[in-house]
This record gives sequence, C-alpha cells and structure tokens, in this order.
Amino acid sequence: MKLRYVVVLLLALGAIASQAQRSEPRFEEGNQLIRPEGYREWVFVGSGLGMSYNEGPPDKAPHFTNIYLEPHAYRHFLETGKFPDKTVLVMEVVTAGSRASINQQGHFEDSFIGVEAAVKDEKRFPEKWAYFNFIGSGGKALDRASPFPKEACWSCHHEHGEVDNVFVQFYPVLREALRPSQEGKAR
Ligand code: HEC
Repeated sequence: MKLRYVVVLLLALGAIASQAQRSEPRFEEGNQLIRPEGYREWVFVGSGLGMSYNEGPPDKAPHFTNIYLEPHAYRHFLETGKFPDKTVLVMEVVTAGSRASINQQGHFEDSFIGVEAAVKDEKRFPEKWAYFNFIGSGGKALDRASPFPKEACWSCHHEHGEVDNVFVQFYPVLREALRPSQEGKAR
C-alpha cells in the first residue's frame, strides 16, 4: 500500500475513534432524556457539600454533589472556554457519612442517591440548555426524564452560572481551564 493511502486510512480511523468517544445525549418520545450512562468515566470537574441556595440554617443531612463533564465537551472547553452543542453534565448526588470505620471528624461520601443532568441542545431547546432529574419518588432511579420548566432550573443557572449556564465558578477543574494558575501549570 502506498504511504499516502496509509496516512489517509490512519486519519480516517483516528476521526472515527474520536467520534466514538463522544457520548451525545439520547432522547426518546420528544424531549425525554435517557439517563446518561458511563459518566463515571467522564471528567470529574468538582464537588459540592450541602450547597443550598436559600438562607436559613444549614442542612442537617448535607449531600455531596459530584459533577462530571462529557470528555468531548471538556476538551472543547479547554481549547475555547465554551461549551459545545450536545454538552452533557451529570450531577451525582451522594449522602454525607461520618463516624464510620476509623472516621472521627469530617465527612465521606456514603450512599448513592441518584443523578441529575444538564444538556445543551441548541436545536431542540429554545433556551439551549435543559435540566433533568432521574431521582424518582422513594429514590427510585428513573430511566428517562422530562425537561423541567424554564423557571424551575434554567433561570437560576442562566442568571448565576459563570459560563453559559454552567456553575464554572464552583468547579476547580474548569476554573483552572479559564484562568490557569502557576500551581495548575505544574499538573
Ligand atoms: C437557585 C439556583 C439553582 C436552581 C433553581 C437550580 N440549580 Fe442546579 N445548580 C446550582 C448551583 C449553584 C450548582 C453548582 C454545583 C452544586 O450545587 O453542586 C448547580 C449545578 C447543577 C448541575 C451541574 C451542572 C451545572 O450546570 O453546573 C446540574 C445537572 C443541575 N444543577 C441540575 C439542576 C436541576 C435539574 C434543577 C431544577 C430542578 C436545578 N439544577 C435548579 C443552582 C441552581
């Protein structure tokens, strides 16, 4: 085989492989999102503990929220500082445990509660982003979920999320991409 055919073949295979890594959001029956799978192999961008958006006493049983970003969208964000169409972020909700095994102080992640998701789909949603909750009643994991009305989730994300509806200000891995620090460069 001539060298240039080999090169073309390798480029084509590379394009297919990088395409295969992308997990696009899957919808059913209109705008019902199928629960994203495999997100634990995505990029972990940060986590919150007992974050609340109302004033008042702190939650007595705070939850951890672990945020994962789909790898293709992560790479795009690193290069451009923007989230591409078909970006998916998953928020995994986990209870906070304490005083088990040798633990005396602080919290560890304990029981898995379920996931929520944010999806950017410019053609499908007039506001571009839509929000979904896969935690059913009694904690049952739902296979699919409908988007929430704009006022329930989108409005707060749009008003307060640092970059394009996403709370980048709370995710150190994405903050680092936007504003590289000396410390971050060493990594
Ligand atoms: C009053 C503001 C507010 C409202 C309303 C809100 N969120 Fe969020 N959301 C946040 C904040 C702040 C974060 C940052 C991380 C965290 O809480 O762990 C976040 C993070 C997220 C993330 C991770 C990705 C991202 O966009 O940063 C998802 C997914 C999410 N929220 C889903 C929802 C869903 C579903 C609803 C509606 C049922 C909702 N949110 C309503 C404030 C809000």
